[in-house]
Amino acid sequence: MTKKKRILSGMRPTGPLHLGNLHGALSNWIKMQEEYDCFFFIADWHALTSDYEKTGKISLYSSEMMIDWLGAGLSPEKSSLFIQSNIKEHAELFLILSMITPVPWLERNPTYKDQIVQLSNKDLSTFGFLGYPVLQAADIIIYKADGVPVGVDQVPHVEITREIARRFNYLYGEVFPEPKAILTETPKILGLDRRKMSKSYNNAIYLSDSAKDIATKISRMITDPNRARKNDPGDPDVCNVFDFHKRYSDQNTINTINEECRKAGIGCVDCKKIMSKNLINFIKPVYEKREYYKAKPDLVKSIFMDGSEKARKVARQTMAEVREAVKI
Ligand code: TRP
Ligand code: SF4
Repeated sequence: MTKKKRILSGMRPTGPLHLGNLHGALSNWIKMQEEYDCFFFIADWHALTSDYEKTGKISLYSSEMMIDWLGAGLSPEKSSLFIQSNIKEHAELFLILSMITPVPWLERNPTYKDQIVQLSNKDLSTFGFLGYPVLQAADIIIYKADGVPVGVDQVPHVEITREIARRFNYLYGEVFPEPKAILTETPKILGLDRRKMSKSYNNAIYLSDSAKDIATKISRMITDPNRARKNDPGDPDVCNVFDFHKRYSDQNTINTINEECRKAGIGCVDCKKIMSKNLINFIKPVYEKREYYKAKPDLVKSIFMDGSEKARKVARQTMAEVREAVKI
């Protein structure tokens, strides 16, 4: 039997997960569990790099994220699920890698330059923020991961990881394989206001939203901006509600809406009601599973403790090899 390839990825606990996260990263991870040896973790130390001034919410968001993950279908039987800060070995490897990582590699990291501009309300001129990719490299190579499923914005970090692993191997002998980025396609899911769905735009539908919350949000969604009155014909091709239909409604409904909208045979209010019902149906199993885990915080905790045990075993083994290679 050939050994299963190892996959590793993480998410920063910066808020509740929404439909964009579900159709992007999460559904991809859920599929990968069937085929690979998967490690998925909540990167709470990474959340600290930008939120070090206000840390109060990180552990709350971590707990919520555990429930979102389990609700969506990540399975403790198939994957090792854990929290970064529970595995102190990441920090030790981070320290050693920081000794061999040239600062210019970090300064020219596009994500770094980008974030400094975007988050100009925060003081990010810290050592930890510059070293973000070094910690990420430690996260990845401590498990000798073969593949790292990430969005396009994270590809430069996996690239730096490969360079750091190569440099380590060159200096101290072959310990680490070079991991490959596995690009996750970002789904075209726009938020309620037709901008990209994001918690910072306050336009998202969350996995934790109840049926009622969802219905209310959808009733406020922007439709074809040129369709002012019910008697005006609309254009589904420029309407975000129609994009949602395409994802959550059956083909018959999609065809009917497509025709009726164009001849003002259906109004936006009714159109949204149909879509909202279908979306709520789609998300129901996730919501119910989420509620199940939400009511059992001890079970959730123990799932992540078991995941930590599995992760720690691998991380300890790697660190023994690292200490021997570095001779310290
Ligand atoms: N930086 C990643 C993000 O913001 C999160 C992350 C931390 C990660 N460590 C990782 C992703 C290791 C993949 C592998 O999305
Ligand atoms: Fe959009 Fe539906 Fe209104 Fe047409 S009827 S504009 S598809 S919400």
